[in-house]
Amino acid sequence: MKLKLLLVPSIASLLTMTAQADDAAGKMAYMTCSACHSADGQGLPLGDKKMAPSLVASKIVNGDASVLALVILKGIKKEGNDYLGMMASLELAYPDDQKLADVMTYVRQSFGNTAAAVTVEDAAKYRAQWQDIKEPVSRAKLAELMAAE
Ligand code: HEC
Repeated sequence: MKLKLLLVPSIASLLTMTAQADDAAGKMAYMTCSACHSADGQGLPLGDKKMAPSLVASKIVNGDASVLALVILKGIKKEGNDYLGMMASLELAYPDDQKLADVMTYVRQSFGNTAAAVTVEDAAKYRAQWQDIKEPVSRAKLAELMAAE
């Protein structure tokens, strides 16, 4: 009986610790992105332009997670000069499904975004889904994928 009472708070604190660890991992995994999208997700301003677009309320960030994975893994074809940076393929920066899941979950649940978390199993599934794509995707292709949702 005594043992049972002692276990309850320790399990609760263990769960809190896990949640905090996940958030820290997400923050770490996002450091690559913040160079262009900035720590607050709004896109780093440089002169009168930005390095990259805002991820706040982005349809790609908050929509079908497989499309977000596609953007991270393969990049976006540079078709204009709206942004100073380029969304290059980050496949080599996220070789690990856990780290991919961490960064995806982080952007979907930060900066006011409230989309569902991405599991490590999902991340592995998306990686396999897009493995044959070898170049950055065009905005037209992304729009097509989003419309098909
Ligand atoms: C070197 C700069 C750079 C880095 C690093 C970078 N991005 Fe980007 N990102 C861009 C640019 C530039 C665009 C716009 C691409 C275009 O339309 O030409 C973009 C677009 C996006 C978009 C599409 C947003 C929308 O709604 O249209 C998402 C999502 C995204 N990036 C997520 C990420 C994530 C997550 C990371 C880190 C894993 C990351 N980016 C790292 C520069 C960067």
